[in-house]
Amino acid sequence: MNLLNRIRRSIWRMTWPTDDQGRMKLVLNDLLLHLHPTTVPLRALKVTYTFGLGGLSILLLGVLAITGALLLFAYTPTPDQAHKSIETLQTEIWLGQFVRNLHHWSANLLLILVVLHMLRVFYTAAFHHPREFNWVLGLALLLLVAGANFSGYLLPWDQLSYWAVTIVTSMLDYIPLAGPAIRRAVLGGPEVGASTLRNFFAFHISVLPFSIFVIVAFHIWRVRKDTISIPRAVDEDPPTKRQLKYVTTVPHLVVLEVTGGLIVLALLLLWSGTVNAPLLESADPHHPPNPAKAAWYFVGFQELLLHFHPVYASFVIPALTLLALVLLPYLDFDPDRDPNVTGIWFRSARGRRLAGLGLLVGTVWTTLMVVIDEYWLDLPSLLSFLPNSISTGLIPLLATLLGLFIFRLALRAHGATASESNMALFSLLFAAFVTLTAIGLFFRGQNMALMWPWEV
Ligand code: HEM
Repeated sequence: MNLLNRIRRSIWRMTWPTDDQGRMKLVLNDLLLHLHPTTVPLRALKVTYTFGLGGLSILLLGVLAITGALLLFAYTPTPDQAHKSIETLQTEIWLGQFVRNLHHWSANLLLILVVLHMLRVFYTAAFHHPREFNWVLGLALLLLVAGANFSGYLLPWDQLSYWAVTIVTSMLDYIPLAGPAIRRAVLGGPEVGASTLRNFFAFHISVLPFSIFVIVAFHIWRVRKDTISIPRAVDEDPPTKRQLKYVTTVPHLVVLEVTGGLIVLALLLLWSGTVNAPLLESADPHHPPNPAKAAWYFVGFQELLLHFHPVYASFVIPALTLLALVLLPYLDFDPDRDPNVTGIWFRSARGRRLAGLGLLVGTVWTTLMVVIDEYWLDLPSLLSFLPNSISTGLIPLLATLLGLFIFRLALRAHGATASESNMALFSLLFAAFVTLTAIGLFFRGQNMALMWPWEV
């Protein structure tokens, strides 16, 4: 055996199989096919169905792991060194700025892609039976990815990160009973300081990446066990396994994955080569910027804090939303009763209109409520005989829930199915959150007052 052949055989021992048994062995031994089935339904390869969002998220996790490992060589997680080490990385280390940019933008893009992937899964009803539990695993991934972004946000130790983390962690105080203890444990003391940086660093480089790795592996394993959902047209019956045409993963699926991956990588490299990750002056615990804003993905909650009592904005509303999202696949579809709509974008033609209606109502209603609350409505003085937690917490929450209930009831009365009505409700709430985030990001200036973006 010549040397090259010996090297090749030491890495990949199999020869290309010609029989069934050989093929089986290949699957067991080959990494690529370990992560994929040998064949996939041709229809599941439709790009405008999954948009490859789950696979691209995995690609970004890979980019983050590599660039994160490189950053570790330059970064020091102490308040007096952290900011300096980032500056040194950017100015004195070859490609340091570029690697930091790549890590920063990949992390932001990952969060966006994971949310888009979740929306794809939701709007194609791909979380219905038998994929309910995989939806729950996905939610855990969403929280972990947000947590990884947030813990990384503090590490540069600049004014932006210090105050953003101060704002968000102060919301922990409002968790009933255990809030202050949880906040103290997360911060490692009464306020953001050296212990916080050490805690966040440990979470960022070990606990969260490890948890993400384990749950992604579980998630993908479930995709294989539950089988990937199949796209279909409105009113088309779900195809049986015998009606589906199967093609081999190599090359059909792999070519699509590699093409999509290369396009996203190219755009990411280009972006990271031209747009630098932000870095303000070193953190100053005595001088908060005005306005001090949370990281963009938490600005929606910060905006909520301006309108609801802190216990409701920081705990009750996020906890209710999470609970609703966890229960959603079990409440939205009963396999013994409801029509199977998995794989149909927006469930039906009516569903499409209702999703649009939900988005419109959510955007307009939230904007109106924010403006009314800012300029005209003063619940604490209007209901001055009640404690604040009731006048600006329980009452507005119950009013909102009643409004949502009536909205859903009206849709049901007009013939929408339970799943279509839930979809409209989900769209409304999603649009409300995006609107709150946009208002917080672009329309809040000094002292968090409402103003036009060009005055902010
Ligand atoms: C780090 C985050 C995530 C990664 C890497 C990931 C990865 C993947 C991949 C590769 C697939 C195969 C099909 C596709 O690409 O669409 C998939 C499917 C799926 N994902 Fe995720 N996912 C993540 C987050 C989520 C989230 C946030 C949810 C929902 C809350 C979710 C729910 C699902 C479900 C239900 C499926 C099956 C879809 C079907 O059969 O059509 N995933 N995921």
